[in-house]
Amino acid sequence: MSSEPTDRATAGTRLGEPLPHGLLDPAEKLGPAQLRELQSTRLRATLRHAYDNVEAYRKKFDEAGLRPEDCASLDDLARFPFTTKADLRDNYPFGMFAVPMDQVRRVHASSGTTGLPTVVGYTENDLSMWSDVVARSIRAAGGRPGHKVHISYGYGLFTGGLGAHYGAERAGCTVIPASGGMTARQVQIIQDFKPEIIMVTPSYMLTLLDEFERQGVDPRGTSLRVGIFGAEPWTEEMRREIEERMDIHAVDIYGLSEVIGPGVAQECVETKDGLHVWEDHFYPEVVDPITGEPLPEGEEGELVFTSLTKEALPIIRYRTRDLTQLLPGTARPAFRRIQKITGRSDDMIILRGVNVFPSQIEEIVLRTPGVAPHFQIRLTKRGRMDHMEVVVEARPDAGAALREEAARSIATGVKDGVGISVEVTVVEPDTVERSVGKIRRVRDLRAE
Ligand code: DLL
Repeated sequence: MSSEPTDRATAGTRLGEPLPHGLLDPAEKLGPAQLRELQSTRLRATLRHAYDNVEAYRKKFDEAGLRPEDCASLDDLARFPFTTKADLRDNYPFGMFAVPMDQVRRVHASSGTTGLPTVVGYTENDLSMWSDVVARSIRAAGGRPGHKVHISYGYGLFTGGLGAHYGAERAGCTVIPASGGMTARQVQIIQDFKPEIIMVTPSYMLTLLDEFERQGVDPRGTSLRVGIFGAEPWTEEMRREIEERMDIHAVDIYGLSEVIGPGVAQECVETKDGLHVWEDHFYPEVVDPITGEPLPEGEEGELVFTSLTKEALPIIRYRTRDLTQLLPGTARPAFRRIQKITGRSDDMIILRGVNVFPSQIEEIVLRTPGVAPHFQIRLTKRGRMDHMEVVVEARPDAGAALREEAARSIATGVKDGVGISVEVTVVEPDTVERSVGKIRRVRDLRAE
């Protein structure tokens, strides 16, 4: 990447270089033993707070024959019961809150595909901690005081917009609160306001990229240097596509409403090797999705989180459904990393007995010449058999022969790499639905 900060506020820090010691949070300077000590203390306090103030937790712990004081060390946490989305739904809307309503300053909600939304709440301290972890994430991504941050995550009940917003302010940046939508205007604003950083879902970044090109603007020539992308799975192939087309650094931010929102884990720009979990606030485990047994570092399973400092909604062993593995820290040695999330267990498609994740299809589509990174997976029935069609857009300059070759190559790639036969349809440019937030990759038409 050619981009280098030149402004006063960023003097002495070049993108891609480690964060100067002075810009690290105190927690980022802890040694592993000190961090474990802090986590143990905070964990005991959280279990006590949850047990004393949330009936649902009290019931769960009692049924398991456990008291908060039975957690003498971090390893004891594995004896405690899990929390799931169903627990939050059963206590809709505010039944899992651990503080009186007059101490709750804000709520957010995640829509979910079926049934009631999941409602989460924040005290003043929770909001402040959230701003701190997002600010820390922005610095890890290369953001510095004085940078302008264009935020295209949606504002509203979704945690993306407001979470990024207050974190960027806390980091000493100037916020451009664009939210999602009005794509043509966003492109204009980026050209006029000249932000260094953009925070957006990777799929909406692609929509913005196309709009730059439609307006005849070279996306490699903008002021943007870093994109902080999250809220949905995205692959290394997608990183390459965006970095090359925009000449920026693309880094990954992870989070979920039930745990706080964005800012649970963040990739460091100097290493781009997975996401450091901000473990002083969110304690991670990876468990076997079927047995629930904790797995050792380096084994893939379901990510589980316990909050360590939250007041309004303490969350104990929350099953995220996200699949990843825990890895040792690198750029922030005391904090473990999670590998880029490959998918959610609920996104897994079982096609004629074979498990398929949309990210596997993304990898193949994005390395195929002649097609754009816009695709959709359609599931239908052919007789009694499940049928998968990958509908993908041609690049504007791709002729008939290249399109045919692309379709063949994707079908072969899926057959060889995933082990299933799919139909591939290459359609005209600009015909596949565009994302304005989280993308919906799969259309399941099997019941229709
Ligand atoms: O998506 C919070 C967020 C906003 C994260 C902006 C990052 C940026 P929810 O709407 O509750 O919260 O959805 C959480 O989104 O369990 C994952 O399945 C998925 N997800 C979030 N970040 C990533 C990521 C926000 N970096 C759910 N990679 C999570 C893959 C992600 N999946």
